[in-house]
Amino acid sequence: MARLNTHFWNWIAKKYARDPIADQNTYQKKLEMTRKYMSPDMQIAEIGCGTGTTAIAHAPYVKHIHASDVSKNMLAIAEENTQAQGINNITFTRSMVEDLNHGKNSLDMVMAHSILHLLKDKETTIKNIYSMLKPGGTFVSSTVCIANQWAPKIFLPIGNFLGLLPFVDFLSPEELVTSITDAGFEIAEQFHPNKDRAIFIVARKPL
Ligand SMILES: C[S@@+](CC[C@H](N)C(=O)[O-])C[C@H]1O[C@@H](n2cnc3c(N)ncnc32)[C@H](O)[C@@H]1O
Repeated sequence: MARLNTHFWNWIAKKYARDPIADQNTYQKKLEMTRKYMSPDMQIAEIGCGTGTTAIAHAPYVKHIHASDVSKNMLAIAEENTQAQGINNITFTRSMVEDLNHGKNSLDMVMAHSILHLLKDKETTIKNIYSMLKPGGTFVSSTVCIANQWAPKIFLPIGNFLGLLPFVDFLSPEELVTSITDAGFEIAEQFHPNKDRAIFIVARKPL
């Protein structure tokens, strides 16, 4: 496994699981937008799955979900919640996004929620996702975009330098769209919740 400081994510896992979703309406809208592209025969993957909330919500709509995350504490909560809800079509794997390899043209959909802004080299990951998707496959991402906010731009790099906070890339929605289209994807839909501080994108690998 490539190296990453996982202390922050392991430390915050219980709080992450406990805290309610900040904007339920937006979350439900994103679930519904995603489900339009799902069918019961699909093999899908979720990278940076955290405590598994989204994978669990989508599990009844697809055949199998390969969910992965680097944090063992996040995954332990995800496994516990999955079992508690009697769901048996999600496999959780401890892996860094950068190390994932599902094989070329093997997946119908890849989901990446609140993870692309945490990667130092999102372009390589997006290209890897493109390669793992079948032609016609769908890449769904929801990403924090804080390019225009001065406070996090000051505090987050200091926290990261001190080893207390993860790396955060200050993306703009336009930059992310460019990275996704540069990898070969076509944008099917986009939605800008929270005054352009986040972008939800559905992209397709051409047939
Ligand atoms: C902000 S949380 C998002 C969790 C979940 N996707 C959600 O939307 O609630 C980011 C997650 O990505 C994981 N993570 C961060 N960097 C990662 C990496 N390079 N590879 C794999 N997982 C990573 C963290 O452990 C954490 O669970």
